[in-house]
Amino acid sequence: MSSAASLYSDHLATLQARTATALERGGFDHLVVPSGTAHYQVFDDRDYPYAVNPQFKHWLPLTRNPGSWIVATPGQKPKLVYLQPRDYWHVVPQAPEGYWVEHFDIVVIRQPEEALKHLPRNASRCAVLGEPQSALGKYGAFLPNNPRPVLDYLEYHRAFKTPYEIEMLREATRRGVRAHQAAERAFRSGASEFGIHLSYCQAAGQDAGELPYSNIVALNEHGAVLHYTELDRVPPKPARSFLLDAGASHGGYACDITRTHAQDTAGEFQALIDAVDRAQQAMCAQVRAGMDYRQLHLDAHLALAGILREAGIITVQPEEAVATGVSSAFFPHGIGHGLGLQVHDVAGFAASDRGGTIARPEGHPYLRLTRTLEPGFVVTIEPGIYFVDMLLEDLQAAGRGGSVDWSRVDAFRPYGGIRIEDNVVCTGGEPLNLTREAFAG
Ligand code: GLY
Ligand code: MN
Ligand code: MN
Repeated sequence: MSSAASLYSDHLATLQARTATALERGGFDHLVVPSGTAHYQVFDDRDYPYAVNPQFKHWLPLTRNPGSWIVATPGQKPKLVYLQPRDYWHVVPQAPEGYWVEHFDIVVIRQPEEALKHLPRNASRCAVLGEPQSALGKYGAFLPNNPRPVLDYLEYHRAFKTPYEIEMLREATRRGVRAHQAAERAFRSGASEFGIHLSYCQAAGQDAGELPYSNIVALNEHGAVLHYTELDRVPPKPARSFLLDAGASHGGYACDITRTHAQDTAGEFQALIDAVDRAQQAMCAQVRAGMDYRQLHLDAHLALAGILREAGIITVQPEEAVATGVSSAFFPHGIGHGLGLQVHDVAGFAASDRGGTIARPEGHPYLRLTRTLEPGFVVTIEPGIYFVDMLLEDLQAAGRGGSVDWSRVDAFRPYGGIRIEDNVVCTGGEPLNLTREAFAG
């Protein structure tokens, strides 16, 4: 039995226990989760790439099955209403197979509306989690009601990954790392951003629609655009630097990995990469139960300001750089986020499983996770240093130009920026870095 198979029944038991409490909180008898439907482009018969409802793929590793439903009722085997249309235009989903099948009562339907016959009789007793388009039939039955107490409970607890989920994330990471290695080879052989992207997809065995987010393949100055997704067809000459933020999927779970490379491995930019890499590993070591993730973010600012000072890019002490916003001009995003079924996992600010919000630290509007880490959390750690003209101009306009050595900025600007991003599991003891484990693999 594969390890996913042996861990799956415990995963399902955890979901069932969580569901029982969530339903009690909301005053419902059944949890009903549609997988979602195709969405069409305006005035067109072309559909957008289908994206499964994350609440659905939490239960089983199905990501390409629109029109299916899960019904979970406490004390009963969960039910899967599985749409396998009669359709000669498309390849339709295979009959259900895999390690998860025996854990469900499965009914196969041929038309989406047939689901109605197999869902609970009294829809008003159901918490239905999904998007409005999933409603069935001409009366729009089972219109998702997304009750807040149910969602609050389930989403809060989704931060605690089961061993099955860790295994899925580990497998996604292995795939992503293999592709990162192929992409680095493509960069070193002179490929364009587009060419590197194709090498990445080839090695991952996944195309852009299967990857958990759009690849960021940035050569030279493009590394300064945080979400650069342009994929230039012609390589720059020379190609000095390469920032790759790209993931992979496995069983509905995402990895989210960034590496930065210098063409000249003996130069100053490589030295800056190495400094960020060392600092990043120290930050990963902070992924421990009881650690406030906001503190991890603030500590990262101090560490990165230290590197900027060391490299002669800023002229003030790290503490001052953080207090005056100078570090934010070079590190303008959060230190990371939760990771799982979604690349930016839900409930990053959840104060409890009954709702409430943990605010971001003042002056840090892009942090996506403010919770205190607990065993089972999986987070990214992704410090960066970038040379973003817009932010550097703002810094000057704010009267902080004297804190920067502009000749050093000019020297580094052609390299764009650096980000290094790993996926780390918080345990009861030492953190488990899935990304480093796969690169060492
Ligand atoms: N790939 C998006 C992020 O790192 O959050
Ligand atoms: Mn990330
Ligand atoms: Mn990323």
